[in-house]
Formats: sequence, C-alpha cells, structure tokens
Amino acid sequence: MKADTLITGISQLVTASGNGPKRGKEMRELKIIQRAAIAIVSGVIVWTGKESEWKGEAEIVVDAGHRAVVPGLVDPHTHAVWAGDRLADFEARTSGLSYEEILAAGGGIRSTIRATAAASQDELVALGKPRIDSLIASGATTIEVKSGYGFTPAAELAMLETIQVISQISPARIVPTLLIHVPPVSAANRPSYISEVCEELIPEVARRKLATAIDVFVEKEAWQIAEAEQFLEHAKRHHLAIKLHSDQFHSIGGVELGVRFGALSADHLEASGPDQIAELAASSTIATILPGVSIHLGIPAAPGRKLIDAGAAVAVGTDLNPGSSPLFSTSEALALSVRLNGLTAQEALVAGTINAACALGLKDIGRLEASCSADFLVLHGSDWRELVYTLGRNAVRDVWIGGKRVQE
Ligand code: NIG
Ligand code: FE
Repeated sequence: MKADTLITGISQLVTASGNGPKRGKEMRELKIIQRAAIAIVSGVIVWTGKESEWKGEAEIVVDAGHRAVVPGLVDPHTHAVWAGDRLADFEARTSGLSYEEILAAGGGIRSTIRATAAASQDELVALGKPRIDSLIASGATTIEVKSGYGFTPAAELAMLETIQVISQISPARIVPTLLIHVPPVSAANRPSYISEVCEELIPEVARRKLATAIDVFVEKEAWQIAEAEQFLEHAKRHHLAIKLHSDQFHSIGGVELGVRFGALSADHLEASGPDQIAELAASSTIATILPGVSIHLGIPAAPGRKLIDAGAAVAVGTDLNPGSSPLFSTSEALALSVRLNGLTAQEALVAGTINAACALGLKDIGRLEASCSADFLVLHGSDWRELVYTLGRNAVRDVWIGGKRVQE
C-alpha cells in the first residue's frame, strides 16, 4: 500500500469504531491502539493500526512525537454568526432578571436580531470567521452554524449566504441550518409570518441548498407545538432534515414532536423529565446537550447521565451564541459535560465525535477508521483523557482536516 501521508509516533489512537450512533452502554466502548499510525490517501484514512505493523510506503511521514490522537470534534449546534453583544443582558441577569423575562420584554434574541440586521455581509463574515477559528483551534473540524438572527425571510436568506461565504474560506466543514428562532412580538402577526416562512423561506432555502436542516425553537416564549408542526411539515416536504431547540426552560412537547417527525436531534433538554428521556431512548433522534448554557444561565444541566443510562444516543455541542452560551471551545463543552451532565470521559468523546456527526446526518466522519475523512487532533499530551480533563487551556496541539494540517 502507498500512502500520501503517514502519521507515526501516536502514543494512543482513540476512536469509536463502526458506524454510529452509539447508544447507552455503547458510548463507553472506545478502540484504543497504543503506538499507532494512520495512513492517508487523498484526505481519506486508508489504514490504522500499530506502527510496527505498517507494511506500506509513504510520501510524507509526520511524527506526532508520542502524543495522543483522537477524531476531529464535531460541534453539532452553534449560532456563530451574530452582530452586537449581550453584555447588557448579562448584567441584567446578574442583578436578577431571567433570560426569559429579557426575551419577553423584546430584548435578548430580539436585540441580537436588530444588531445583525444592521450589519453588512462583510461585517458578519469578519465577526463570524474568528469565532469559527476559535472552535477549530479547540478541536472542531466539522461545525454546524444556524441562521435565526435574521427574522424576515430576506434576512434569514442573507444569514445563510453569510454562512456559505464563511464556509468557503474556512478549512472546517461547515453545516448550515435554517433556524426559525422567535415569533413576531405582536401575536396578530404570527399567522402571516408562519405562512411567509412556510410558503417562501423554506422552499427557497431548499431550492438553493442553503441549509441541510431546519431547526425550530419550541418554548413557551417562542414557538408553540402547533406552529412548529407547520414548519416541520413544510420542511419535510422540501427534504430538509429536522432539528429542534426543545425543553430548554419548559417541557411543552418539543421532544415528542421531534421524535414523531424523525428529527435528527432534539437539543437542550435541560427541562426534560422521565417521559422525554424514555421517548428519546426509544427513538433514533439524538439527544444533544449543551452544558455551556447551564453554566452561563445557571439553569439545570440536561440529564445526560439519565439519557445514556436509559439507552439514548447523546451528543454534546457548544451552542456558541451571545445570549445563552458564549463558549468558544468545543473541547471545553465536552469537559463541561463530564462535570455538569455526568458523562464519563469515554462518553464525552463519543458524544463530541461520532454521535455529533450523526446529529448532523453525516457518515464517515467522527471516527478514525479506513474510509473515513482524515480529520483528527494531535493532543499536547500522551494520554487522550487530557482532552476532557483540561479546563481553560487548550489540550489540542495540531488540527488535521481532510488529511491537511490546518493548525499547529
Ligand atoms: O440555543 N434558546 C434559543 N436559542 C439560543 C440562544 C440564542 C440567544 O440567546 O441569542 C440557544 O440557547
Ligand atoms: Fe441554540
């Protein structure tokens, strides 16, 4: 066998094995190869194994220097494109107002929508690209980015176009999602807004392939079940996959709706109870948890431990956004999931790699095996657990995407 690139000097190669998602106990099963090597041809892994067992040739040999290697992380939930800031909200919350009260009063997400509407595409690219770069530096090689700060159909399309521009200049694989975030302030305007989204925005996004999935914020202060259902029906008709923001503050049926529509993922789940946990465990919908929100808003942590014990497939993301999770590190999200949501180190790695890939409907990423994209991280240390142990310092040394080192 002849490889373009051979990575040697890997103290431990650590990965989930076989197609995902991994559910329940499977989330603790990692394949660990000591003193390993990876052979790559045209950006794809063709062989992994013990370095001493490699029999082929290679054009370039890169020595990892006795360091641990893990799959590139997949961040399955971000809102990385926004303008303005939410520092006033942050202060208001520290003096007692809640996130939901600020939102209901026309601030919060709606203030970010106003600031984003006032920014040009160039400004939004200049703001969004460095945020994506921070996530990459923290180990993310595939990153989902949502619209949702556009509000009007034209502004949502413009946000998705901005995400497309960032995707063209970023080394990461960017996965765009159309987010139907908050309703108009006046209840009288809701029906006409819903029909604009269903009749104009969704078909146009699907026709121009500006997003692969739709996401809806189902919550007391946002969209109700019957409204969300209309969005999902239209999205389905136009072959968009489905994701939901559900059970962040109240469990009003978002999880059940997502499961019924065969959603790729139901995200947040901080307010989910035994019924929602059982629904997710019995479904193919990935339970995506976002510990950055719990730490920033001081709300209960999503029941990660209970979800896994019940047999669900759990993924973890940053939810990078200005209001509920200013968390610019995907590996730190995994580290927080161990502390806040009760995941083991092994489960956190699976949640941030193969399961997160499945939450985006992607195959052949998020694991290090033949035929997968050569997206991997060389850590600073020789023990992979430092990735989820370390807080406030980057455990990731080199980031490789599609067989190319994008950061060292
Ligand atoms: O995932 N809660 C809804 N949406 C985002 C927050 C967006 C914002 O506050 O700007 C979330 O938490
Ligand atoms: Fe979110």
